[in-house]
Amino acid sequence: MSHLTVIGGTGYAGSAIVAEAAARGHAVTALSRSLPADRVPDVNYVQGDATDEAALSSVVSGADVVVGALAPRGTLAGTFRDVYRTIARLAAAEGVPLFVVGGFSSLRPAAGAPRFVEDLSHAPAGYHDEIVSVAALVVDDLPATPEALNWVFVSPAAKFGSFAPGERLGVYRVGDDVAVQAEGGGAISGADYALGLVDLIEKGNHHRTHVNLAY
Ligand SMILES: NC(=O)c1ccc[n+]([C@@H]2O[C@H](COP(=O)([O-])OP(=O)(O)OC[C@H]3O[C@@H](n4cnc5c(N)ncnc54)[C@H](OP(=O)(O)O)[C@@H]3O)[C@@H](O)[C@H]2O)c1
Repeated sequence: MSHLTVIGGTGYAGSAIVAEAAARGHAVTALSRSLPADRVPDVNYVQGDATDEAALSSVVSGADVVVGALAPRGTLAGTFRDVYRTIARLAAAEGVPLFVVGGFSSLRPAAGAPRFVEDLSHAPAGYHDEIVSVAALVVDDLPATPEALNWVFVSPAAKFGSFAPGERLGVYRVGDDVAVQAEGGGAISGADYALGLVDLIEKGNHHRTHVNLAY
């Protein structure tokens, strides 16, 4: 059993990861500003703001693994990358791996090809800032962290999110930075993304790298 801290553990991705990890018997702490209406039994829900380093530090301290499941929306729209820089620094100081819930658009359609984010004409304009912020984590910010930090950036298929929760099928495929399903972007439910992410955590065989999960 490990102690997982999920920052943003009450959101779409975070709550699925919390539920999956808790169901496997891991000790789970979830940080968010508000407490969820439906709590997963035995999960330690902590209220705090990720822009407050003391709040982050209190949940990273003692963790075996940190998962970032924040979204660059609302008050995090302008602070998202700085918040992740702080999370990465705290995880490195704690000597624990950091898994980041990423986006589809930071993937590539083929090995060596430009990432989808380099041509956003396919995406609604209202999402461009969000897509660019999330991609910047894996393009610029995480590779710039000290080598001692093990980070894994886990992109979902294109059809992933609260708009398409899907159901638990108990299957998924893992790719690197090339989309498992480039054509059409593919799909993955929240539950199966969480299944894959917690498997990645338990296997621990990825290091400072970008992977993706899709059917
Ligand atoms: N197809 C795709 O590529 C795709 C689609 C969706 C999501 N994603 C990825 O998944 C990530 C997570 O998205 P999501 O849809 O799961 O987000 P979400 O549902 O909006 O959840 C965000 C979580 O962060 C918490 N949070 C927000 N601001 C916070 C703050 N200042 N301090 C502490 N906690 C805060 C929220 O709780 P409170 O509001 O209570 O604080 C919630 O737990 C995205 O960034 C993106 O990388 C990818």
